[in-house]
Amino acid sequence: MNIIGISAFFHDSACCLLTDGVLKAAAEEERFTRIKADPGIPRHAFRYCLEAGGLDIADIDCIAYYEDPRKKLARQVWSGLVDDTGRLPERLRPDRPEYQIRTILGFEGPVEFVDHHLSHAASCFYFSGFRESAILTVDGVGEWATTTYGKGGDGRIELFEEVRFPHSLGLLYSTITSYLGFGVNDGEYKVMGLAPYGQPLYADTIRQLIIEGAGGGYQLNMPYFSYVSERSMYSEEFCRLFGRPPRKESEEIGQFHSDVARSMQVVLEEVLLRKSKYLFERTGSENLCMAGGVALNCVANGRILREGPFKKLFVQPAANDAGGALGAAAVAHHRCTGEALPIKALPHVYLGPAYSSADIAALLESTSLSYKDHRGRTGELLSATAKRLSQQKVIGWFQGRMEFGPRSLGARSILADPRNPAMRDRINAMVKKREGFRPFAPAVVSHMAAAHFELDHPSPFMLETCQVSSALDLPAITHVDRSARVQTVDRPANPMFFDLLLAFNRVTGCPILLNTSFNIKGEPIVCSPEDALKCFIGTDIDCLVIGDFIIDREDNDLDLLRLILATESVTDGIARDVYTFM
Ligand SMILES: [Fe+2]
Repeated sequence: MNIIGISAFFHDSACCLLTDGVLKAAAEEERFTRIKADPGIPRHAFRYCLEAGGLDIADIDCIAYYEDPRKKLARQVWSGLVDDTGRLPERLRPDRPEYQIRTILGFEGPVEFVDHHLSHAASCFYFSGFRESAILTVDGVGEWATTTYGKGGDGRIELFEEVRFPHSLGLLYSTITSYLGFGVNDGEYKVMGLAPYGQPLYADTIRQLIIEGAGGGYQLNMPYFSYVSERSMYSEEFCRLFGRPPRKESEEIGQFHSDVARSMQVVLEEVLLRKSKYLFERTGSENLCMAGGVALNCVANGRILREGPFKKLFVQPAANDAGGALGAAAVAHHRCTGEALPIKALPHVYLGPAYSSADIAALLESTSLSYKDHRGRTGELLSATAKRLSQQKVIGWFQGRMEFGPRSLGARSILADPRNPAMRDRINAMVKKREGFRPFAPAVVSHMAAAHFELDHPSPFMLETCQVSSALDLPAITHVDRSARVQTVDRPANPMFFDLLLAFNRVTGCPILLNTSFNIKGEPIVCSPEDALKCFIGTDIDCLVIGDFIIDREDNDLDLLRLILATESVTDGIARDVYTFM
């Protein structure tokens, strides 16, 4: 039984393949098209999933789509999202998903539509490893629901309560994000990163925006918002309430902005803590599964686990709409087979394409680059990389299958020494070009994590924050409030990255590396070897470790290549789609 899950037409389109109940492949469309958060039908990701499974389109039994476009239409009409002639714009037509599945993907078999929040719920519960669990989904909006409360058990999911549009914790957070001059849907991380620099001076102001009801209910104070008709996120009353106009994107970030960010974060955490206590009382479960865009708020997740009633928490690593593809496929598996998807803990998210050593060698040979070949000598490659990291080199690290979800977890990562106080600024200057207040995250050898962080359980997906307690000074990964967003790494999930951390520990006595996503600001994380090479050439990264090969900037005069890259692709002669399934 081969089921394809798809999320598309809003943000973070993605595709996954579930074969006989086993998740074989998953990838976001943006990684292939190089269009950040690409919302289009995921034709490249679909093609990748077929190749990863060794399948032809005729082998696919069902395509599952992550929401119900007809239910969504009712909300869109209610919101007045019609053009001047009173008709729905083309992009919102409810027959568009199935039409494009038929015409662009070329699929003639059955298509199942799964409600948006059921897709989120299934994306966490079936991959949690919990036989039974409470389930909380929180995002901007699906069809109508914006928050759902439920329980999973006996392989089934029951969502027993929901909050409906326009009342939405996700849209409240996005409204503050927009008011602070950051982009909706990709600036929410920035608000979370800015929060520790501020004081919660506006928490009472934000509490005026949300009216909490009994149980799981809440309402937003709608005169302060104008997103219903998609004109703007906030109203003039909203700006009057805060006493300041919204920040322009080019405007300097001041203390006021940090204080508003902190206030929003505090109120979000308060509400989520109260609602999770309610959910615990309703379900009696000690386990909690979470998904939806708000579940990517790793600071709130850390508090829910530390201060809330649940003993265990699983957050779907692709908690945003990309992960909806997984949940839709899981529900479709039940519908198609009559059997619930067996619950298994997601062992890792290395579900994207891998590239063979021969492909990478062919790419490098087609260039004039000087590189070192470590084929057949992995230990030597790891020692050489660890040595460079200890010499304060910034490394582009490209190994194995690409990660699914918004985090780089040691397959497509930029790595550096976390002990260097200048490293954050250096990486920002050379490649990330992002706001200086945003912290970088640490990756740590799993069994050594407790010696350096206040963490008593694995955190393999970098989805919660905790306090740094290390005797080592780790300024490059420690936030201003001494928190860090930790990834614990174990050998079964990622042997190369695990062994690199051990090799760095042997050289330095530090089993921790700074780990940030391998991309330039505004671009998706690199997917293919040529993406990695372009990023390396176009930035000031010191060294690229790609498969079995090491390329040192100091051995190459990259200025000319960079010039060529600025005008046309240096790797255009290399086929993009040379990935192999490993
Ligand atoms: Fe969603």
